[in-house]
Amino acid sequence: ALIVKHRMKKSGRWARAEAIVNDFEEKCATPIGKLRQVADAMMVEMHAGLASEGGSKLKMLISYVDSLPKGDEKGLFYALDLGGTNFRVIRVQLGGKERGVINQEAEEVSIPPHLMVGSSFVCAALELFDFIASEVARFVTSESEEYQLPAGRQRELGFTFSFPVRQTSLASGTLIKWTKGFSIEETVNTYYPIRSHLFIEVTVGEDVVSELTKAIERQGLDLRVAALVNDTVGTLAGGRYYDNDVVAAVILGTGTNAAYVERAHAIPKWHGLLPKSGEMVINMEWGNFRSSHLPLTEYDLSLDTESLNPGEQIFEKLISGMYLGEILRRVLLSLAEEASFFGDTVPPKLMVPFILRTPHMSSMHLDTSSDLRVVASKLKDILGISNTSFKTRKMIVKLCDIIAKRGARLSAAGIFGILKKQGRDVLATEKQRTVVALDGGLFEHYTTFRKILESTLAEMLGKEAASSVIIKHANDGSGIGAALIAAAHSQYLELDSS
Ligand code: GLC
Repeated sequence: ALIVKHRMKKSGRWARAEAIVNDFEEKCATPIGKLRQVADAMMVEMHAGLASEGGSKLKMLISYVDSLPKGDEKGLFYALDLGGTNFRVIRVQLGGKERGVINQEAEEVSIPPHLMVGSSFVCAALELFDFIASEVARFVTSESEEYQLPAGRQRELGFTFSFPVRQTSLASGTLIKWTKGFSIEETVNTYYPIRSHLFIEVTVGEDVVSELTKAIERQGLDLRVAALVNDTVGTLAGGRYYDNDVVAAVILGTGTNAAYVERAHAIPKWHGLLPKSGEMVINMEWGNFRSSHLPLTEYDLSLDTESLNPGEQIFEKLISGMYLGEILRRVLLSLAEEASFFGDTVPPKLMVPFILRTPHMSSMHLDTSSDLRVVASKLKDILGISNTSFKTRKMIVKLCDIIAKRGARLSAAGIFGILKKQGRDVLATEKQRTVVALDGGLFEHYTTFRKILESTLAEMLGKEAASSVIIKHANDGSGIGAALIAAAHSQYLELDSS
């Protein structure tokens, strides 16, 4: 009798677990009709954000990039790409249409921990910029003879800064708000502290470029910060340099965002002169998109409430690399609590926010071994859970699938919304090509995610239009992109073309 009771109990638990997973799956569903609603809502918000400042949750930031690289740029340019615990400095010698990129070098520098950790951010900002400037100076002075700067010219640098910045010109701007950031212990995440410092810096209203410029001057370095660009804008420029048909760029990484080329006269809030090109690159900050059509579950709502930016970046919280693993953890935790999914006790590590990262989730999702060995080892190594049954592991793979699928399909809907806004969701002429440049760790490494995104976009476009739309991986476009924008807007441009 005891055994029977035990079995009953076990099967009861399993039934409960199945019910929870099924319910979650249903709530995450993104049938094509829903995706079309999401894309349409995105378009409506794009219009609203372009109409007036603060007109929408979508900021639709004006980048002041009104000419993208054409491929004929010439000269020596630098870029600085500020990411997480690392930043990159890049040097590129451009040889014009015939020769393209003649030389290119990049160096990754990690920020010393003493500049990143500590709960008080007191001296951080200044010190941090000084550190960055000193590394830039070191990099610039290591320039070899292969690189040539014509006499009498100042070096120019493009600065990639992956946050929402309100710009007042191509080379000035202040941070609007903090995204992607959460200041939790190092053990959990070492990627964000630097962002907190910068936040402190810019909340006092300083201009990001003038801060950097001052630090560069303190180093005695003669280098002009020629452009401040979001990573999406950099990726767009990097993509365009190699392919003339690139009209939009999307980052799927820690955060997510998109930039695209808009007709300047379709931007009512733009009061400046109409640019010669008639075009303007818009940094959408689509991570902050929100709509009643988004399939939000109780797990997403609690993730949001407990985040450092509640109510904000809702689209990002459904899609990007910072959150997918955390959503999975939350579902697993509720399975453990409500269905004793991992036995009688709740594994303590499962209660630690952000302990399960998206790369872990991706490798579990991609586990092709017959006994789901990778899933077992991740559970053990990351969460300290051993002895899981095959059935349990299979269920976890299913959860990865539900979460990744929702994120990937929503990203596709976002891209479709942009294409629709650009009138490129239907095939205008047979020759028309539309290329969207994509970059970011999530896109690059999470193969399943990428495949679902691509097939969903094709599904939304339909056969004919899909034949003209290409998703292209713009590897590391954002860094070199900033250098290319600096080149395309160089103060010596007139000199060169005359
Ligand atoms: C976040 C930032 C945005 C950036 C994106 C990708 O959404 O707000 O500026 O482009 O992450 O890095």
